[in-house]
Amino acid sequence: MLLVTEIASLKNIIKAKKQKGLTIGLVPTMGFLHEGHLSLMRAAAAENDFVVGSIFVNPLQFGIGEDYEEYPRDLENDTKLAKSAGCDLIFSPTVKEMYPSGYATFIQVERLTEGLCGASRPGHFVGVTTVVAKLFNLVRPNRAYFGQKDAQQAFVLIKMVEDLNMNLDIVVLPTVREPDGLALSSRNKYLTPGQRKEAAVIYKSLKEAESQIKKGERKTKAIRENITKSILLAKHAEVDYVEIVDCQDLSPISTINKGRCLIAVAAKFGKTRLIDNILVEV
Ligand code: PAF
Repeated sequence: MLLVTEIASLKNIIKAKKQKGLTIGLVPTMGFLHEGHLSLMRAAAAENDFVVGSIFVNPLQFGIGEDYEEYPRDLENDTKLAKSAGCDLIFSPTVKEMYPSGYATFIQVERLTEGLCGASRPGHFVGVTTVVAKLFNLVRPNRAYFGQKDAQQAFVLIKMVEDLNMNLDIVVLPTVREPDGLALSSRNKYLTPGQRKEAAVIYKSLKEAESQIKKGERKTKAIRENITKSILLAKHAEVDYVEIVDCQDLSPISTINKGRCLIAVAAKFGKTRLIDNILVEV
């Protein structure tokens, strides 16, 4: 497996792969890889001739006071894991390589980025879409892989690809969970043992909401209140948002109608902000 840090080398390698007619799969990550990332890499390896994983903690998507500096990094272990999951190349540039001095171009997807994490983390999605657009231009993948855990991110990237006529498919794969239901995240590392135990309540509350809906509840206010109540039973928990939104435009809904809706939660356990979601079909 190749480890590439410079844009010029990456471009040369990609050019050669394209000339051979190979298909390329891209798995963008911020590193500190876990089973969620590896499931994306395995899928990319099964569906493409050449798999690129990117590892770049993107400063542009972190707000002031967020965890950019503390974000866990372990390139050595990541390269081993990526190789075992079928990656052919890891692209791990420096911040200067991606955003040289004088950098001035940003991509913004409107509307879909207004609610949920976009409301709590202003500027976050401009950072995500800008870095992902750059990665798409550099790697020119046939397919790019993202996890359902970051549901809003996936919606926003699908919209960017559609609106900017980018020539690739976005593949969104299921959230990988711990045995107690906690969604895998590099940020789970920040949790103390007590917070880690409590954090399982997020998924538990989402599943309770799902069964409430299956039993016939259609008013989202009641469902959201129950989720909030369940989460707040945990001693270290603070709720950022609990939303039930339309699957087309991510706008909040008051009554669940036929079709699919997304139930999304962001909650803090101590200093650590975790997100999770489920899609519910009625
Ligand atoms: O999901 C992530 O880890 C990041 O937001 C991404 C897509 C790699 C962009 O930095």
